[in-house]
Amino acid sequence: MESTLSIIKPDAVAKNVIGKIVDRFESNGLRIAAMKKVQLSQADAEAFYAVHASRPFFGDLVKFMISGPVVVMVLEGENAVLKNRDLMGATNPREAAKGTIRADFADSIDANAVHGSDSLENAKIEIDFFFARREIN
Ligand code: PPS
Repeated sequence: MESTLSIIKPDAVAKNVIGKIVDRFESNGLRIAAMKKVQLSQADAEAFYAVHASRPFFGDLVKFMISGPVVVMVLEGENAVLKNRDLMGATNPREAAKGTIRADFADSIDANAVHGSDSLENAKIEIDFFFARREIN
């Protein structure tokens, strides 16, 4: 059993599709082990995306992620990291396979509806960033 971190980004929260996205996870064998709605500060977003600090889009990414509240979740299930990435689809929604979350709900490479941990190692780091142990059940 694996755990991974999922974020429903400000664009999808503003579109009122939180429930539809959560349904994709629950309908595909993932369980919501933790969940909360958070307004990130600039410092929060810069820290969370620190690994991308040198990328040209870093400023835009941080600005977008603090443009409204996000929903953060711990998803649990078999192969949760990969399963979540598959359900999300490609980073650029134009390249995302039909039926994936990004193909159905994302508008652009920056406003791309969801984030998911890209490895088990990063999942642990990202889960610890957002959740205390007692919030994960
Ligand atoms: S990924 O998901 O890490 O494999 O993709 P990557 O291309 O490395 O992108 C890392 C995160 O940066 C976001 N991104 C962008 N934001 C704004 N503008 C541009 N041009 C852009 N390109 C990529 C992308 O959505 C990834 O965000 P997360 O939250 O990690 O999915």
